[in-house]
Parts: sequence; structure tokens; C-alpha cells
Amino acid sequence: MCGIIAYNGQDDAIPYLLEGIRNLEYRGYDSFGCAIDSPVGIIIKKDIGRVDDVINKYKIQNFSSNKAIFHTRWATHGGVKTENAHPMIDCMHRIAVAHNGIIENWAELKESLGTHKFISDTDTEVLSHLIEEKLSRGSDIQSAVKDTFNQIKGSSSFIVLDKQSEDLIAVKKGSPLVLGIAKNGNFLSSDVPSFVRHTNKVVYLSDGDMVVLGKRGYTITNLMNRDVNHDVSTVNLSAKHAEKGDYEHFMIKEIMEQLAQMKSLESADFGNVTRAAELVKNAKLVYLIGAGTSYHTALLGAKVLRENGIKSAAVQGQDLITYRNVISEDDVFIVISQSGETADIINAMPLISKNKKIGIINSEGSTLTKDVDIFIPIDAGPEKAVASTKSFTLSSVYVTLIAMFAAGKKEEALRDLKLLNINMYNLLVPSVLSAIDKAAEKIKGLEDVFFLGRDSDYIMALEGALKLKEVSYIHAEAIDAATFKHGPLALISDKTYAVALVSESTRNDTLYNLQEVKARGGNIIGVSDKNENVFDMFIRAQNGGAFGFVTQSIILQLLAYKTSILKGINPDRPKNLAKAVTTK
Ligand code: G6P
Repeated sequence: MCGIIAYNGQDDAIPYLLEGIRNLEYRGYDSFGCAIDSPVGIIIKKDIGRVDDVINKYKIQNFSSNKAIFHTRWATHGGVKTENAHPMIDCMHRIAVAHNGIIENWAELKESLGTHKFISDTDTEVLSHLIEEKLSRGSDIQSAVKDTFNQIKGSSSFIVLDKQSEDLIAVKKGSPLVLGIAKNGNFLSSDVPSFVRHTNKVVYLSDGDMVVLGKRGYTITNLMNRDVNHDVSTVNLSAKHAEKGDYEHFMIKEIMEQLAQMKSLESADFGNVTRAAELVKNAKLVYLIGAGTSYHTALLGAKVLRENGIKSAAVQGQDLITYRNVISEDDVFIVISQSGETADIINAMPLISKNKKIGIINSEGSTLTKDVDIFIPIDAGPEKAVASTKSFTLSSVYVTLIAMFAAGKKEEALRDLKLLNINMYNLLVPSVLSAIDKAAEKIKGLEDVFFLGRDSDYIMALEGALKLKEVSYIHAEAIDAATFKHGPLALISDKTYAVALVSESTRNDTLYNLQEVKARGGNIIGVSDKNENVFDMFIRAQNGGAFGFVTQSIILQLLAYKTSILKGINPDRPKNLAKAVTTK
């Protein structure tokens, strides 16, 4: 995925866009580029590297303009090269295009543009040349953009700067694009936090929307003939939500935010959870769909539903196709996604167009929120670190609440939320923090780490292993403690470390399995409410009640974070990863 932000108005766009693009860097950080409108034509500056490095190299802060587009790239089509950084221009240097998405039919379109001179390997470049081609045949810029949009296949949102027009033109399909309405001008951006310091008035654009963004106003038309809502919403988000504040990294800020967020759940209005529970209760089968971390929430939700007597299955988005002959119209789907824009999930939606869908989603206005019948906003606030933390625990709490409400256990669920908050209060005491530090110190030099557990401890082990992989580049593998004896035990030596999750309901069986590891010389870092003889190191987790997984998860998030820091890695921007993956 990539990040785009543009401004057109009375003010100088550059300070706004510098701030905005730094804010969007979580969406991609391979290269940066910008198109700045000037009296002598469009100024393009672009290069590979982190946003701030490129900005400083080209002294972008010294430019001034009322109209510009900034872009940060996560390479999908074409390698990390300066020529592949956006924006792309046409042969005559009249227009510049910044794009987020994939143009599936780029090859045939490129072939049809035989005489045009292409300088990049990207699919995006066909956009600037297609628009140029139409302009050369007498189209005005709006018709040229519209006709180009109609020609491309795939999910693509893009913004066009035409040096002969006062306006910026943008279209949205698949990838996110929101309109921000400020006092002296307007923004187009991949997300709201990137401009929220200047306005909290937004229009969440829908697929097919074309925006003509003038200096003073805007118009929106839908090119897919959809009847969509273009009302202006006021977002309840302050700039501080999108900033690190006193924290060194977003990841630690977001981990720590969970303490207050879990507390605020105690007074939450669970009206939409109640409605979702009604749907789930009457379903023939409940499917839970997610990717990456959100798939772990799906696994947890499916398990809790089954335990409460409701048939359920967790499926990764790309795998739903294999269920196409068994899905019935009475099945209900719970779609879990932090971003609401993961391609593996969005691409699965046509398979379940007739089914009722519940969305447990963090990003308001995102593509998936528009595709579900009941939207449960988890209200985690902007999650900027690439590795998901607070969205994971909050969505896991919500999916557990739905299952418990559906099983008539609302009171028990609310009581367990209170217990969770008592446990949270005792969680990050100095002895626990120093135990996490010691474990990270040990782990940082390892090449492989196992994460073991049974039942929901195993699901948290999966998530703990993923966190460690993402931010420390250490090979981490989660294995069900019971399955360990069916092969992986062969890998154990006195050099092996396993992080073992043990909770009340799994204690006896897991400890039995851990003895098998111990007997072969393996070392065990126990995450449990009690210290056990079999542990070589111990981190206390307060994990009672239906939401005990939250405290385990926070400990594993901190373990991954600390290991990352000890290895000198920036946990917010791990190599090769992106916050939301909008490619197949
Ligand atoms: C990417 C991110 C993961 C995330 C997954 C699903 O792979 O790097 O951290 O869990 O996408 O994202 P979603 O936004 O759908 O939860």
C-alpha cells in the first residue's frame, strides 16, 4: 500500500503536506515523491529512502505552493528505484499522478500507448499517459480522468495535478481516499489523521467517486453510478491521537494505550454488540474472516463461539474460495480488519454478497465498513506502528463479547471485563517489566524461538510469534504444546528457547508437555499467573476470566518490542512490511 495526501486552497500547501506525509509513512516507506504546482510548471521531486531523508535531500520545506500532491510508496509493481517513485508524469510534463492500488490490465494498456515514452516499471505510469492521450484527442481533464478510470481494472485510487487546471482531480476505487474540508482549502488523503490538525470535517469517499477539488470548493460525482452518501462527517479525533507524544515509538505508545482502552470498555454502550449477537445466534454457521493478526482474532472468536454452542469456523480471506460450495445463505460472517482495506479480505467479499456480515474494524470509513450490515468500530484510534497491537486485543475482546452475548452470558462478560481491568492494573508492575527485559535480553541473540500453548494460549502463541517475527526478524514459530511431540521435539537441544503460555484451564496438560521439552535440555520462558518448576525464566501474567488473553498478549507485545529495540531495529517500520496489504 502507499500513502497519498494533496491540498488545494488559499494557504501554502507545503507545510500541511510535509506534516501529513510524515503521518502517512506507516503506509509505505520505500520512497517518497511530490508534485508541486508552480508558475513555471509542475515541480517533481522524488527518490528512494525514508520520507524525511528525501525531504531533507531536496529541501522540500523551501518550496511554496497552493496546490500539491505528496506520496509515500510501498513497492508492489516495479522495484525500489527513483524512477518508480510517484508521482508519474506524461510525456509533455503537463500532468502528474500519484496512485495507490494495482492496475491489473496495465500491460495491455501500455501496449496501446505505443508512442508514449515510459520511464518507470510501474503500472501507475499508464495513468499519466492514458490521461495525456485523451487530452491530446481534445478531452478536458475531467473527462480524460473519467475515461481513464473506466479503462483500468483492479483497485486504484489516484490524484491528478494538471498544470493547465485550477483543480486537482481524484478518483477512488478500493484503496482509501478521504476528503478533508478546511477553512481555506481542502485535503485529499489516504487517512484522516494526516490532516486532522487542520480540520475534523471529512467526507468518506466511496468506490467510483470522482472529486474535483477546487481552490474554494469541491464537487463529487460517482463514476460507477452508485447512489452514495457524501455527507460531511465530523470526526472525533484530535491530532494527539496520531502523534507519538512522549513515547519513542508508536508501537510502545499503542501497547500502553490498551490500559485505558480496556478500562473505557467498562462503560461502553454495547448496542451494536447486542445486534451482532442476535445475528450470530440465529446463524447456521458463523465464519470469521481475517488476515495476519486479524486472523488470530478470528481463530479466537471461532473457538469462543464453539465453546458457547455456536457452530463457527475461522478462515483466512484468500482461503474463503475453497468454501464456496458449502457456504449457505443462512451463514453469518464476522469480518475482522484493522485497516478495513486488506485485499485478501476485500477480494473475498463477492463470495458472500448475499450473507449477513458483521465488521469488527478499526478504520472508520474504510472499504470494508461499507460492505457490512453491522459495523462494530473498535475505536482503537489510529494504529501507526506496522505491527498491530491495540487493534488485536480490542477486536479480540469484541469478538468474545459477541459470542458471550449470543450465548446469553452478558452479565458474565461484563463481570469479566471488570476482572480484566483489575488484572490490567496489576500487570505492568516493575517485577514484570524487568522479567520482560531479561527475557528480551536472552531472545535478542537467538535465531529461533518457539511459542507454545494449548487452547486459547496457543492462539496467543501464534500472535506472540508473529509480533516477534515482524519487529525483531527472529524466526519465531508457534506450535500447539500438544503437537510439539509430533515432530518439532526433534529440534530441541540445550540451545533451544520456548516461550510457554500457561493459564488456569490449560495448566496440567501444558506443564506435562513442557516437561518433555525440559527433559531434552530445552529452556522455557513461562508466561503464566504462577511460577512453575519447569520455567527457566518467568513473566507473571494476570490472566483470569474470559479476557485473560489480553494480559498475555500485552506481555508478548512488550517482549517483541523490547527485543526489537535491543537489536537496534525501528519497530514502527520493519523492513519489507506494510501496515495494510492492498495487493493479492
Ligand atoms: C498486514 C500487516 C499485519 C496485519 C495484516 C491484516 O500484513 O502487516 O500487521 O495483521 O496486514 O491487516 P488488517 O488491517 O486487515 O487487520
